[in-house]
Amino acid sequence: MAVRGQGFRIERGEIVGLIGPNGAGKTTTFNLISGLYYPDAGTIRFKGVDITRRAPHVRCRMGIGRTFQIIQPFENISVLQNVMVGAIFGGRRSGKRPEDTAWEACEMVGLGDRCHSMPGELTAAGLKKMELARALATFPELLLLDEMMEGLTPVESAEVINIIKKVRDSGTAVLVIEHVMRTVRDLSDRVVVMHQGGTLAEGTYGEVVSDPLVIAAYLGEEGEGDTVGHSGH
Ligand SMILES: Nc1ncnc2c1ncn2[C@@H]1O[C@H](COP(=O)(O)OP(=O)(O)OP(=O)(O)O)[C@@H](O)[C@H]1O
Ligand SMILES: [Mg+2]
Repeated sequence: MAVRGQGFRIERGEIVGLIGPNGAGKTTTFNLISGLYYPDAGTIRFKGVDITRRAPHVRCRMGIGRTFQIIQPFENISVLQNVMVGAIFGGRRSGKRPEDTAWEACEMVGLGDRCHSMPGELTAAGLKKMELARALATFPELLLLDEMMEGLTPVESAEVINIIKKVRDSGTAVLVIEHVMRTVRDLSDRVVVMHQGGTLAEGTYGEVVSDPLVIAAYLGEEGEGDTVGHSGH
C-alpha cells in the first residue's frame, strides 16, 4: 500500500531527486530497491535484470549502494573500518585491497584525516560523510541517498552536493531523497514527486515546482530555502 502506485526509471549518470510529503513512501521505495522489503506486486529491474526477489547483499554486489535516513555506524570500530565493511562485504571485485578502497572513499568525502577516529568522535556531518563513504566503497552504479543533507549546515551541504555530483560524473546513477528544496534544485537533473504511494509528477526542478498538483499536495506557497515537511526521525 505504501508504494502501490509507484513507478519510475533512472538512467546512468543522472541525479534524480525523490521528493514528497512525510509518509509518501520515499524510504519504502528505497527499501524495495535495496531489497530490505519484497513487494507483493510489481517488478524492480537493474540494468535490465529482474532483481525483485534478490537478497540485499546480492543487489549490493550487483552495484546498488545506499545510505540510511537514520545513520547506521558500527560504534566499536574505526571510521576506516566502518568504510571497509562496505568494501569487503558489499564491494564488487575491484582488484584493490579493501583498506585502499576505504582510504580512497574517505578521501573522496573529505574524511581522509579522520580515518583512525572512532565514529563517536565525529560531528553529525562527519557521520553522514562516513555513511556516504561506506556506500561509495561498494563501487555503486546506483547510489541511494536518504536525507543525506539533513542536519548539515549550508556550507557542509554544499560540500556534499559537490561530492555527489562527482559521483554522478563518474557514471553512477544517484537517487536522492531530500526535503530542502534549494538542495533539490542544486542537485537534481530530474525530480520525481511522490504522494500517497504513487508518482504525482516527474520532470525538471522547474517543471515540478510550478505544477499545480505538486504545489497543492506538497509545496504550498513556501520558498525555495524552506524544508518541506519534517525530517529527522
Ligand atoms: N514497516 C512498516 N509497517 C507499516 N507501515 C509502514 C512501515 N514502513 C512505513 N510504513 C508507512 O508507509 C508509509 C510510507 O512511509 P515511508 O517511510 O516510506 O515515508 P517517507 O516518504 O520516507 O516519509 P519521510 O519523509 O517522513 O521520511 C507511511 O504511512 C508509513 O507510516
Ligand atoms: Mg523517509
